[in-house]
Amino acid sequence: MAVKLDGKKLSIKLTNDLQVETKTLKNQGIIPKLAVILVGDDPASRVYVRNKHRMAEKIGIESLDLRLAKDTSEAELLEKIALLNNDPTINGILVQLPLPDQINADRITKTISPKKDVDGFHPYNLGRLFVNDPYAIPCTPNGIMYLLREYGISVDRKNVVIVGRSKIVGRPLAALMLNQNATVTVAHSHTKNLSEITRQADILVAAVGRVNFIQAQDVKPGAIVIDVGINRNAAGKLVGDVEQTEVGQVAGYLTPVPGGVGPMTIAMLMKQTIEFAKWSKQEK
Ligand SMILES: NC(=O)c1ccc[n+]([C@@H]2O[C@H](COP(=O)([O-])OP(=O)(O)OC[C@H]3O[C@@H](n4cnc5c(N)ncnc54)[C@H](OP(=O)(O)O)[C@@H]3O)[C@@H](O)[C@H]2O)c1
Repeated sequence: MAVKLDGKKLSIKLTNDLQVETKTLKNQGIIPKLAVILVGDDPASRVYVRNKHRMAEKIGIESLDLRLAKDTSEAELLEKIALLNNDPTINGILVQLPLPDQINADRITKTISPKKDVDGFHPYNLGRLFVNDPYAIPCTPNGIMYLLREYGISVDRKNVVIVGRSKIVGRPLAALMLNQNATVTVAHSHTKNLSEITRQADILVAAVGRVNFIQAQDVKPGAIVIDVGINRNAAGKLVGDVEQTEVGQVAGYLTPVPGGVGPMTIAMLMKQTIEFAKWSKQEK
C-alpha cells in the first residue's frame, strides 16, 4: 500500500506556523495584506475565493475582497490593478481565473506588479524561476515541492515525469524540479507512447484534468505519484487524475484527492503573501 502524502495534515501544520509568524510581524508593525479580485459569479471561483479569504483571516493576513460584475471591461479591471499596484498597504494581488471572455487573462497577469504577483504567473517571475533565481513561485508547484521535502523525498537524481504543461502547474513545476537536479520529462497531448514514459518515472505528476487518466499499468512499482487533478466524476464526486485504488497498490507514495495538493496550494499562497510583506521592507 502506498504511503499517503497528506497535504491536509501538512497544510494545517504550515498554517499554524504562519499564524505565529503574522503575530511576530504585527509586533514589528507589518500586517500582510492580500487583495483578491473576482470578476463575475462562477460558482467554483466563488468557493475558491471564499476559502482564500477564510484562510487569510485564520492566519492573520488582512484580505481585500473585490467583486466585479461579469460585464466588467478589461480597461476597468486594469485600472483596479493599477490602483492596487500603487497602494503600499497591499502586498499581494490575485485575480481569480478564469476571467470572462471580454478580458485577456495574459494582459491582466502582465499588469500585476511582479513584486505583488502572489500567484507567480507574471513572465518576470516565471523567467526568474527558469534561471533558478526565483522570486514569486506559482503556488501549486511550490506546494508539491514543499510536500515532497516535508516527507523527506529528494528529487535529486530522480526521473520525474510531469503529464501536463500548463503555465500554472506543469511548466513551473518542471523548472522547480530541474533546479533541484531532477531529470525532467514533460508530457502533453502530443506525447507518443505516454504509458511507456510514465512507467519510467520515479516521481510521476498528473496535471491533466481527466478522471482516471493514470492507471496502475502506467506506474512503476514503488513510484511517488502526485495527483494534481481536481475533477468531478460521473457521480459528482471530487476526484483527481489518478485511479487511486489500484495505483495505491502499486505506488510507494500517493497524494489523495481531496486532501493532497489542493490544501498545499492555498497554504503556499498565504506563505507567499507573508513573504512579500517581509520583502517589501527590504530589497530582494
Ligand atoms: N490541486 C490544485 O491546487 C490545482 C491547481 C491547479 C490545477 N489543478 C487541476 O489540475 C488539472 C490540470 O490543471 P491545468 O490548469 O494545468 O490544466 P490545463 O491548462 O487544461 O492543462 C492540461 C494539460 O494536460 C495535457 N493533456 C490533456 N490531455 C492529454 C492527454 N490525453 N495526454 C497527455 N496530456 C494531456 C494538456 O496538453 P496540451 O498542452 O497539449 O493541451 C495540458 O498540457 C485540472 O484538473 C485542475 O483543476 C489543481
